[in-house]
Parts: sequence; C-alpha cells; structure tokens
Amino acid sequence: MSDLRTALGEAVEAAFAALGAPPELGRVTPSDRPDLADFQSNGALAAAKRLGKNPREIATAVAEKLSGDPRLLSVEIAGPGFINLKVADAALSDRANAIAVEARAGAGLVQQPRKVIVDYGGPNVAKPMHVGHLRASIIGEAIKRIYRFRGDTVIGDAHFGDWGYQMGLLIGAVMDENPDIAAQIETVTDKDAAIPAAFQKITLADLDRLYPQAAAKGKEDPAYRDRARKLTADLQAHKPGCYVLWRQFRAVTQVALERDFHALGVDFDWWKGESDADPLIEDMVAELDSLGLLVEDQGARIVRVSRDGDKRDLPPLLVVSSEGSAMYGTTDLATILDRKREFGPDLVIYCVDQRQADHFEIVFRAAYLAGYAEEGQLEHIGFGTMNGTDGKPFKTREGGVLKLNDLIEMTRTKARERLQEAGLGENLPADEFEDIAGKVAVAALKFADLQNFRGTSYVFDLDRFTSFEGKTGPYLLYQAVRVKSLLRRAGAEGAATGPVTVAEPAERDLVLTLDAFDAALTEAYDKKAPNALAEHAYRLSQAFSKFYAACPIMLSEPAVKASRLTLATATLRQLELALDLLGIATPERM
Ligand code: ARG
Repeated sequence: MSDLRTALGEAVEAAFAALGAPPELGRVTPSDRPDLADFQSNGALAAAKRLGKNPREIATAVAEKLSGDPRLLSVEIAGPGFINLKVADAALSDRANAIAVEARAGAGLVQQPRKVIVDYGGPNVAKPMHVGHLRASIIGEAIKRIYRFRGDTVIGDAHFGDWGYQMGLLIGAVMDENPDIAAQIETVTDKDAAIPAAFQKITLADLDRLYPQAAAKGKEDPAYRDRARKLTADLQAHKPGCYVLWRQFRAVTQVALERDFHALGVDFDWWKGESDADPLIEDMVAELDSLGLLVEDQGARIVRVSRDGDKRDLPPLLVVSSEGSAMYGTTDLATILDRKREFGPDLVIYCVDQRQADHFEIVFRAAYLAGYAEEGQLEHIGFGTMNGTDGKPFKTREGGVLKLNDLIEMTRTKARERLQEAGLGENLPADEFEDIAGKVAVAALKFADLQNFRGTSYVFDLDRFTSFEGKTGPYLLYQAVRVKSLLRRAGAEGAATGPVTVAEPAERDLVLTLDAFDAALTEAYDKKAPNALAEHAYRLSQAFSKFYAACPIMLSEPAVKASRLTLATATLRQLELALDLLGIATPERM
C-alpha cells in the first residue's frame, strides 16, 4: 500500500488530467498550514495559466471531481486557488493498520535496484583521523544503510590510505630509531614472508609518535623528504624488507581502527586499501598510454582532464611522479578499475570532505576518458566541517588533530554524567549502564551531525549534543525507550493491540507523521541527504510525545487501549528503524 500522499496525489493528478491540464501539476505535498489541512496542491495556478482560465475555476473543478472520494473529509479552495485536502479519519485508520503490520513500517523499495559502492571513512595508516574522517564515517554509514534498505546491493569500502608518501616517511623514521630493523630490512628476501620479531614490536603508539615528527622533518629538510620518497617508491616496487615492515604498520593500524569504528557503529564490508589497487597500476599506465591519454610533463606522467567550457583551470591527473611513484589519484583511478572487475557497480558514492572536490573531479574525468566508468556513475558527496567555537575545523585543546577513540571516550564520559543528572539508569547493572552510555554517546555524535544537511558546517558542542532535551540523539533515544517501557507494561498486564480507530487530533497527527516516512526516506536516498530522515525521526518523536500526553492509553476502555497500543507499536518500529538507518542503536531501557 502506498502512502496517503502518493495515493491522494494520484487522484488529484487524474483530476488535473481530466481537465486537460498536465497531470504533474496536481502534485500533492504536506500542508504548510496543518491547522487548516493535511495536504495541499498548488497546481491550479500554473494549470490556469496553461489553459487560459481562472485558477479558482480550475481548483473548483478539481474539488468537484474529488468530492465523493471516501478518503477525503473535505476539499477546500483557499486564496487564489490553492486546494486544501483533509483526510477522513477512516482513511487514516486504514493507513495506520497497514503500517502497523509491515516490517518496513511503511517504507517502499526502489523500482530498479542497483549495485552501489559507498567509499567512506577513508582512514590512513598512522596518520591520526581528523574531523573530516569522523563526518565521512557518520554520513557514509547512514548512506550505505539507507541505500541497502531501499533495495540496492551495497558495499561499504573503507578505502584505507596505506600506499602514499606517509608510508615512506614512516619506514625511514622507524629505521632511524631502530638500527636492528634498518639492518634487517636489507636481509628480507620474500615480501610475503612471516613478519620478523623485530618488526612485530612496532606498535600503533610508535607510529602515532613517529609520524608527526617525520612529517614535520619532511617539510623542512629536502634530503629527508627525498629519502622518504625513495622509500615510498621502494615499497611500491615491493622491495621485500620495506614491504614486510609496511605489512606490520598496516596490521596494527587496521585492528585499532576497526575497533574504534565499531564503537561508533561504523562497520565496513571491505577494508580494501589504496595498496589493493597497486597490482593493476602497471597495466593501467600502459593502457592510458596506448589510449593516447598519457603525457610527459617534467619527468612525470599525467592525464589532462580540462574540458572546453570549464570555468576554471582543472589541474591534470598526476599518474606517475618523477620518482616513479603512484600518487593518491593513481590509486583512486586503479581502484575504479578494481571495483569494476570485482563488483561492477552502477554507482560509486565517495563520501569525502568537500575540500577534496577537485581531486575527485579530476579522477572521475580521467576514468570517463579511459572508459573505466560511464559518465555519472561516480559521484562525490562532499560535506562541510565540524568546527570548534573558533569557527575552524575542530582541534583538541592542545591544538592537535582529534583521535576518534578520544572523541568517543570524551562523549561517553559526558553521556554518563548526563544519565546520572537525569536520574536514568540508576538501578541498572553496571555493564548495562555502560552499554547505555555508549549508545547515548553515539546517538549524540551522530544525530548532531546528521540533522544538518551534509554541506553545512556545524560547531562541536558536547553539552548541547548530549542533552536529553531539544533536537538531539539522546532525546530520540529517550522517546524510543519510553515507548518500549509502555509496551512492556502493557504486555505485563496482558493488554493486547487491536485495530486502529483514529479519533483525536493527536492521533491524526501521529498517523500523518507515520505516513510521511517513505517520502523522507526517498528524499534522503535521492539527495544522499540523511538529514531528511533525521528530521523525520525527530518529528515522529514529537508527534508521539504529544499523542502520549493527550491520549491516555492504559486507562482507556479496551478497544481504545488496543488501538492506541497498535499506534505505539507502529511508532516504535518506525522510529527504531529510522534511527538504525542513521546508524544509531536504541537501548532497551534507561
Ligand atoms: N585517505 C583519504 C584522506 O585521508 C581519504 C580517502 C577518500 N576516498 C578515496 N577514494 N580517495 O584524505
């Protein structure tokens, strides 16, 4: 069963068509004035222009055609020719009953499922994550879930940054600090050999400590930088010692990252890295050459991607550097080929910081030129930054980049405080309390991010994010838990659900909100904008809250009680589903 908005839209469109007007003008939207109507259609004005008639005349004719539709309580004309529709209680009851029995809680599926890869998260070996990675993870995870839920076959890939210049920097820094490793690097003969004990003692803490030092030195000292570049080229040429040491770096980083991401409710299907594209690079370069796309430029090899009509100069894609290294764009291009062979996606969504927009434009153009993807199959979904109160990308108090794990810890500490302040979770076992605090923390971070359109930057404000009041993740969890506890109580008393009969205004509102789920989900999908779904979850919580205050449940007579329990059940299912699609898990109690 389609939602009321679609069903009524079809009726209004048919009425427009019958008058000789383009049916799409009859489009129905939720009313701007919920006090006057449930839905509206403003198309009579445009239709009148087309047909050379008076808009009120058209609107009246449409209203006449709709009169007698049992789903409508009233059709009224307002102002110059706006059509206002009010839905009959019986139609709302029918819709609520349908939603209540659907596992998908009223959500539809795409007509033509596609194969989609979401490239998100994008962490790097050793380099600490910054807020851009946080947003990429939160938004990408939501987009992945929304796409999958709508019926596409979706793979989420971390596209681990493990093959660039920072690897050469680290290999050099580790060698400088550990003469034994420096000596042993030369003796390794097989790149797939077991990792020697000396290499295995390198931990993530070592890499975290060494990377910033090495990066700083590389900026100041050209000789140091050249050596790092040389080591990067050695690694990419699979020099066994470098390669085996690099495997150690990669392994210790991935384990820690997977754990931190998991704590944030972010889990990837593929942990492929830039390095996984490496085996394809040699043939790819040869092919780009044979296609006549590769140009020599001061010792480097590039692909020019600028097009006639470009408003500004787009730099070329640097494929092979003058040291012979593959660059960030090279591995991205080879990854497009790799994905094509492994999976054959119809669409690849790159959920990466807006600041990389040019990088992707360049890579995509090169891929289209080389025939590795069809125009439009590659899409960069950029986003703004999470800022500090100074309006600049968020930094730690010491001015450093933020570690994901520290951020989660900090938020969890705050969540514990908030729960205690609110007197929540007081009598629960310690491990359950911890689990709740973790969920509140994740909800706080994710909802604060996802309630904004992704292009917008926002300010990190832990106090506000973790509040149980206002438009926050914790508020939504609290509402969901309230419904759960109501339903548990009803269950304990043996109260059953039964057919919905809508009568009260708060019930009408709740059902109309439930009905709007599919439209919100479709918008989130089409625009790659999870904020549409976040907004819906918030509205649903508010509608439920008003219903709960206005409509007694447990003290009502049996049929009314049963009807309201069904409404509560449907609300909970839809709310939990919407939150889950945003990557937010709901506790059983608080
Ligand atoms: N590792 C990159 C960075 O930290 C992000 C990777 C984004 N994805 C991609 N296919 N380039 O900036």
